[in-house]
Amino acid sequence: MAATRSFDAIIIGAGAAGMYCAALAGQQGSRILLVDHASEPGRKILISGGGRCNFTNIGATADNFLSANPHFAKSALGRYTPADFLALVDRHRIAWHEKTLGQLFCDGSARQIVAMLLDECAAGGVENAFGQAATVEHRDGSFDVTIGTATARAPALVLASGGLSIPKLGATGFAYDVARRFGLKIVEPRPALVPLTLSGGQALFSTLSGVSAEVVASAGKGRFREAALFTHRGLSGPAILQVSSYWLPGQPVTVDFLPDLPRGWLRQAKRVEPRSTVRRMLGRHLPDRLAGTLAEQLALAGELANIPDRRLDDAERRIAEWTFTPNGSEGFAKAEVTIGGISTAELSSQTMQSNRVPGLFAIGEAVDVTGWLGGYNFQWAWASANAAAQAL
Ligand code: FDA
Repeated sequence: MAATRSFDAIIIGAGAAGMYCAALAGQQGSRILLVDHASEPGRKILISGGGRCNFTNIGATADNFLSANPHFAKSALGRYTPADFLALVDRHRIAWHEKTLGQLFCDGSARQIVAMLLDECAAGGVENAFGQAATVEHRDGSFDVTIGTATARAPALVLASGGLSIPKLGATGFAYDVARRFGLKIVEPRPALVPLTLSGGQALFSTLSGVSAEVVASAGKGRFREAALFTHRGLSGPAILQVSSYWLPGQPVTVDFLPDLPRGWLRQAKRVEPRSTVRRMLGRHLPDRLAGTLAEQLALAGELANIPDRRLDDAERRIAEWTFTPNGSEGFAKAEVTIGGISTAELSSQTMQSNRVPGLFAIGEAVDVTGWLGGYNFQWAWASANAAAQAL
């Protein structure tokens, strides 16, 4: 039987958070073992941002994150900013651009970010154990991690194995399972940044599959102005993905299809163009198929001149507050992230270390901190990795 090897810390999960934490801790002189059951590290990074990795958002603050404790992320985000990660990207001469809303992408490929992280790990002398499942035991204050026939031991274990989204890319509930075994609380994980599905009468909108429009979408406390996309199953596009993080089953999603038009615009149109129709007016501001379907649903045929103002006001209100009641979401198979996870109440916001189990850390998506769409989730991965690395 192979001898047990000792490390200063073992990090489980070679994704964004795990790789970066390993690199930083290794470069500070710690002996680090980085473990992943997948044979290739950083697979989510590779597919992120359409293959170009939206690696941060220059405007990221704690306000862009959801968590049972909205203050928890402040410390880590404040001590490791988007500018810090950008400096690293620049040092590796990776060309990047701002796409929109502060979102930074590689000009070339997400592979450059993975290569950069692996270079940084190599510079820190990090050892890798990829492609085999691991089990964890806790003995005499040490963590024993068994990988195949080998065992590694360390006084610190970092859970960086992410959430449940996209199981076919290797996502598992490993971090939650280990945390539960140690008595840590888990905030019920659910899919987020995920398309929502519609059924029944609302499926009328399936005829709009492929149509997209800039809207203001709202659910719960979430309100986002971005594009919404009709799909054959329901609603998607950035505005809907964003509000999906705030949506709970049974709740409505409200869409303002014409957020730029002032109140009373239909009455005004009636004065200026009495011979026009609601259908024609909608067609001026919305994609044609969407205008046609909304006009049909509003059932206001004929010239504006013949429609009472009160009914025009009602129509305007419906267009501004179109209510969908999703019957679900496309689930973890399609969710970009998992909301919920290891409760922040269990962790130090300074170090990401468990308050109950000394030496146990959790970082990245495994923790109940979830960012908006737009580079925020990677910024949390880098910032929480940095917070833990400083304490290893
Ligand atoms: P991550 O999931 O990256 O890594 C976890 C690692 O743990 C994986 O390598 C996995 O194999 C490993 N693992 C899991 N179970 C294990 C087990 N039992 N044993 C050993 N290892 C195990 N965010 C963003 O900011 N900008 C973007 O452009 C995008 N784009 C994007 C696109 C798509 C399609 C998805 C699915 C997600 C995004 N995201 C994103 C979200 C982002 O990818 C995500 O938040 C981070 O990758 C989370 O980093 P972590 O390191 O915490 O987990």
